[in-house]
Parts: sequence; C-alpha cells; structure tokens
Amino acid sequence: MTTETTVKDIVRQKYGEAAQRVSQGASGSCCGGASAALGGCDPITSNLYDPAQAGAVPETAMLASLGCSNPTALAELKPGETVLDLGSGGGIDVLLSARRVGPEGTAYGLDMTDEMLALAQENKRQSGLANVHFLKGEIEHIPLPANSVDVIISNCVINLAADKDRVLAEAFRVLKPGGRFAVSDVVVRGEVPPAGTENAPTSATTEPATAAASCCGPSACCGR
Ligand SMILES: C[S@@+](CC[C@H](N)C(=O)[O-])C[C@H]1O[C@@H](n2cnc3c(N)ncnc32)[C@H](O)[C@@H]1O
Repeated sequence: MTTETTVKDIVRQKYGEAAQRVSQGASGSCCGGASAALGGCDPITSNLYDPAQAGAVPETAMLASLGCSNPTALAELKPGETVLDLGSGGGIDVLLSARRVGPEGTAYGLDMTDEMLALAQENKRQSGLANVHFLKGEIEHIPLPANSVDVIISNCVINLAADKDRVLAEAFRVLKPGGRFAVSDVVVRGEVPPAGTENAPTSATTEPATAAASCCGPSACCGR
C-alpha cells in the first residue's frame, strides 16, 4: 500500500466517523455550534460563519462544519455561475454557494467519504435547494469536464491530499478560462515540528488544531 493510499484511507475513516457523529445527533459543542463533528470545541473549525449564513443552512450542516475559514466569504459568486467545492463534507459551503448563484446557477460538492455524502444529501433535502449536486470522487480526479466551472472553493481539504500538485492541476483543468479559485486552507511555514512528523497521517487527520498551530495564512484567492 502506498503512503498516499494509507493517508487517504485514514482520512476517509476519520471523516466518516465525524459524519456519523453528526448524523447521530452530536451537538452541544461550544463556540457557536460548529465542530461537534470532532467531538469537542475546536478553535480552528468554530465560529466561521456569521449568524445570517448559519440561519440559511440546516443545523446539521453547521454541526458538520470542519473547515478552517469561510471560502464563500472570499469568493465572488454571480447568479447563474457554476461552483465546485473540493471536499464538501456536510455541504455547508455548497448550500451557501447555491443560494448565491441562484436557481440558474449550479453548486457541486465533491467528496470521497460515503458518510459525508449521505449527510450532505440529507442537508440538501432539508434545504430544499434544487441546484445542488453532490458527487462522489476524489479531488485528485475531479469527475467533471474541462472548462466547466466558474469558481472553485475549498475549505481545509487540500492540506489532506498527499499529491497537492495533482489536485491543483485538476482544479485548473475544470476551471473555465477566467475562472476563480477561492480556497481556505492551512499551510506550514518553516519546519514542521517533530510532533507533526511522528505518525504524520494521524496527526494530519485527527488533530487539525495541532496542524494549524504551526500554520498561518488560512485564506488565499486568485484568478485563473
Ligand atoms: C476538513 S473536512 C472539510 C469539509 C468541508 N469542506 C467543511 O468545510 O466543512 C475534509 C473533507 O474532505 C474530504 N476529503 C479529504 N480528502 C479528500 C480527497 N482526496 N478527495 C475527496 N474528498 C476528500 C473528507 O471526506 C471530508 O469530508
């Protein structure tokens, strides 16, 4: 088994468990409702959305929020556009984007974890939005044609991919010329501390706060 496969399997398992916690009614997290999926208060994944945004999506979408910032606040979204969220989890950023592009637009969420996709589908059902489509797949192999997406968003997912060059190449393949790329994520500047390199797959997937503590610059936005 390659390192990439191992990392992916662990990521899938951890986020599958997180989705199940939310589906089974996990709640009562601190910090404004988010991060119940991690089973506690995580300062990185909490308080990312303002009350108006929180009120626009089902509660389980908020509870499943595991991002590290708010890419929908970065992205300029226009009515009629097509948006793709890489690693959409419980779907919060997809649902918020779908409202902004309106019924003439489309919001796709792509995720590889069955339990997250099931949660996202339920959140879509509760939201009543018809212009939302959740796709199963990997962000390294985006199941959409070239030049088909106006805006790519992603919230704390690309850091989980072993082959980030491949993810970025795929993102720019599906983006239309002039498309936009608005991503919130964590990056390491300088040396990774020893605690972050011991058993790296586990620390990368189960302790985002540890990873983020040595990171900075959660947001980036650029045009194609
Ligand atoms: C940190 S959570 C973020 C979820 C969502 N973006 C949010 O803000 O709540 C990471 C999500 O990305 C998905 N994921 C991780 N690596 C992936 C990959 N290589 N391909 C597709 N999905 C992936 C996981 O299944 C999980 O749902």
